[in-house]
Amino acid sequence: MDEHKQTLYERFGGHTVLEKIVDDFYNRVAQHSDLSPIFPDDLTETKEKQLAFLTQYFGGEPLYVQKYQRHPMLRARHMPFPITPTRAKAWLGCMTAAIEGAGIEEDIKHEMLSRLTFTAQHMINTPDENPDTDRPSEE
Ligand code: HEM
Repeated sequence: MDEHKQTLYERFGGHTVLEKIVDDFYNRVAQHSDLSPIFPDDLTETKEKQLAFLTQYFGGEPLYVQKYQRHPMLRARHMPFPITPTRAKAWLGCMTAAIEGAGIEEDIKHEMLSRLTFTAQHMINTPDENPDTDRPSEE
């Protein structure tokens, strides 16, 4: 067994493990007060897209391109949503917890999270709230 010939996708356990991570991740997103307002109530389709995307992102089959017949163009696709540094941190927090719950070996987990952190930073398109536009605090 030469682990250098394996993709990250194979090393963390492939489809079964990724499906568990994605499910767990969106359960956390749905309960997160910074994230849930910008996601649809029904996350079924979002989960399917994410599962297809992350499969190819981690070196598995190019499922997203095959299924949706288009390139992900992730940053452009996130533009309609205000992705602030706070939301990126929240997204990564949910993903870290989901990956930790999947019982993945430490170094593989670290590799996954460092790639995801890089991509999450790249999605940021809005600064955190401007104090001038904050709601006045209530007494
Ligand atoms: C940084 C914080 C992020 C936030 C707040 C965020 C939020 C969102 C939202 C609101 C959607 C639309 C959901 C829908 O309408 O179905 C979405 C879609 C998606 N996100 Fe993110 N996202 C973030 C980072 C990421 C990262 C790091 C990745 C990949 C590694 C990613 C992958 C995707 C994919 C694949 C979709 C579906 C795109 C499509 O419509 O085909 N997102 N995201």
